Order: sequence, then structure tokens, then C-alpha cells
Amino acid sequence: SVKGLIFDLDGVLVDTAKYHFMAWKRLAKEHGVDLNDGYAEPLKGISRKDALEILLDLTGISMSGVEKLRALDKKNSWYLEYIMDIDESAVFEGVLEFLDLVKSLGYKTAIGSTSDNSSLILECTGLTRFFDVIIDGYKVTKPKPDPEVYLVGAKELQLDPSECVVFEDAVAGVNSAKTARMKVIGVSRTGSLEGADKVITTFSGLDEKILDF
Ligand code: BG6
Ligand code: MG
Repeated sequence: SVKGLIFDLDGVLVDTAKYHFMAWKRLAKEHGVDLNDGYAEPLKGISRKDALEILLDLTGISMSGVEKLRALDKKNSWYLEYIMDIDESAVFEGVLEFLDLVKSLGYKTAIGSTSDNSSLILECTGLTRFFDVIIDGYKVTKPKPDPEVYLVGAKELQLDPSECVVFEDAVAGVNSAKTARMKVIGVSRTGSLEGADKVITTFSGLDEKILDF
């Protein structure tokens, strides 16, 4: 049975995926390319480095090794600029109530994100206190879709992967969790997410019945 819940952070609990995309757009713009919204999904949920490679691939922009390093730095400093004023208001509707509920029911909880900025965001939004374990970009070396981040999450929760359910908004993250042999609840405003076992559009009004598989 389900004992642990592992949450991706960006785009699941907090509305930060849009800031990641804004920073990628700004980078492409500097190279004369306008990124339409179709680029959002392929750049989502993967590491900064992998996202840059995909961006270059999809747009045909080319960069030397040194330029890539500078671009990664720039992207992150713009992202940090965008999230500088982030607070509780960035937490999606219904998230606090759902976290309160599952904690009161005794579920163990973890963050499973490969962002280096996870702790900062959790602190600024007041979410840190809800999690027994925080797995972020400093704790794992292999970005999603590799299962490492979710496997380490289960391990630190002292649970078997089969006892864990993952909440994800990105295809790469769904694949990461599936490879870790976990059930996945997709969080998608449009109501569909490839590979997820179930999909929710919001945490608002959600209760523990969603954890029945
Ligand atoms: C994920 C985001 O949570 O973290 C990705 O969905 C991002 O968009 C990745 O690339 C790495 O994050 P950061 O903050 O270390 O660049
Ligand atoms: Mg995400």
C-alpha cells in the first residue's frame, strides 16, 4: 500500500515552470530566435544542461563550449531574478490543504526535484516544513528521466519504491518515476500527461482517495 508521496517541485507545487521558460526564451531571443509555447514541454523537467542542448538542437542556434557555460550561468541568473520576490502566493491552489491532509494521515513526504534552486524556493514559499526529505540537484547526479532522484527519495524515506506515489508535471519526470517503478499522478492544467497513471488538473479539493490504485 501507499506510504510515501514524492513531489516534484517546479510546476507541481509552485508556479515556477513559467519562470524557467521565460529565462530560456530570453536566452533564445539574444540569439535572434523567438520561442513559441511549443518549446515549453521539451524544455520542462530536465536539467539546465540538457535543456540547453535541446534548445540548441530545436532552434539550430550553435554555441562553443565556453558560450554554453556562459549561457547556463545567464539563464540561471535571469531565473533567480524572476523568482527573487517569490513567496506563499506562488504555491498552487489547494497544495497547502492537501499537504496538511496527507501529513495528518501519516504519509511520509519528500521533494524529488533536480533543481539546484529547490531549497531556496521551498524556504521562500514556506513549504519546507511539510517534507521529511528533500532531494534536490545537490543530492543527485543523474537528471530526470533517470530514476535516480525518485529512487533516492524512496530510500531516504526508508520505503520500497512500490510504496511510493509521485506527483509530476513533466514527461521526463513521469518517465523517471515509472522507471523507478512508482505510480505517477500527473499534474497538468490541460488534463493530460503522457505515461501518468492518473492526471489531476489541480490540488484544490483533492483528498486521499486519489492515492487508491
Ligand atoms: C526542474 C525544472 O525542476 O529543474 C527544470 O522543471 C530545470 O526546468 C531543472 O531545468 C533544473 O533546475 P535549476 O533550477 O537547477 O536550473
Ligand atoms: Mg516539474
